[in-house]
Amino acid sequence: MRVLASAPAKIILFGEHSVVYGKPAIAAAIDLRTYVWAEFNENGAIKIEAKDIRVPGLTVSFSEDEIYFESDYGKAAEVLSYVRQAIELVRKEADANGKGITVSITSQIPVGAGLGSSAAVAVATIGAVSRLLGLELSNEEIGKLGHKVELLVQGASSGIDPTVSAIGGFIHYEKGNFEHLPFMELPIVVGYTGSSGSTKELVAMVRGTYEEMPEVIEPVLVAMGKIVEKARDVITSDLDEELRFAQLGRLMNINHGLLDALGVSTKKLSELVYAARVAGAIGAKITGAGGGGCMYALAPENQSEVATAITIAGGTPMITRISREGLRIE
Ligand code: MEV
Repeated sequence: MRVLASAPAKIILFGEHSVVYGKPAIAAAIDLRTYVWAEFNENGAIKIEAKDIRVPGLTVSFSEDEIYFESDYGKAAEVLSYVRQAIELVRKEADANGKGITVSITSQIPVGAGLGSSAAVAVATIGAVSRLLGLELSNEEIGKLGHKVELLVQGASSGIDPTVSAIGGFIHYEKGNFEHLPFMELPIVVGYTGSSGSTKELVAMVRGTYEEMPEVIEPVLVAMGKIVEKARDVITSDLDEELRFAQLGRLMNINHGLLDALGVSTKKLSELVYAARVAGAIGAKITGAGGGGCMYALAPENQSEVATAITIAGGTPMITRISREGLRIE
């Protein structure tokens, strides 16, 4: 028996980092997916094979035995810790410790780009392995297990990435609870800097500043939470589309400024954000943890001009669509 599961990447539209402190955030699944096959093996071991994992500058294929000897593969190797924890967690849930399981992964999502590659691989692995072991878990339950995996690997996580990857669509998320927002087509362009940031390190860096000067950082986080609530009001309002996009764009720009204030932007991210705005995007901001990775721009009138401006500024543009579907057993 062989089970194939897939789970999508995500973008955080508003509220990354502040969501780790219990503030709300808004995220959407997008149409890049990670695929995981799971099957039993005879030797009782966990075996992981990854094909076509995209890390900045290269695409790698590896199996667990060879990974540790190839330093270029360091980023890709991080993927393994999420997969291993996910398999161990599901084996424990299914009372199947010691059962040999081989998983094989292929992914369209660049690693470390802030698009939720780790959450997608954790969710798809939990989906495939739980089905292989005969567990009946809902996508919401799988999202919660994905959050556990992130906590084990990263130490801190809000859980928004595995939740949106498992359930799909467009969500408002706060302290482990989510609500679907009305689905809307967002005319966005994602810009990839080509370098990756470590979510674990960036979350720890913000935590360090917060602990050093809470009286300065807390109001920034509160303002980020207010941006999210305002964005939710705008998204669910009956304003006409032009006005709605104009307000969301302004909120994106304010949110970007606050993320920059927290220290998670980079020269390259800011260059892509400003290049997109100069080319006519009505809003542009970092998406995800920052420190490299991706930004996104809202460009209802001129997606292709904004994509060109991102290319000229040295980034890789991706015109993506929101995915209604989360985890899928294929
Ligand atoms: C990462 O996609 C989003 C962060 O807010 C971390 C988290 O929510 O776990 C930076």
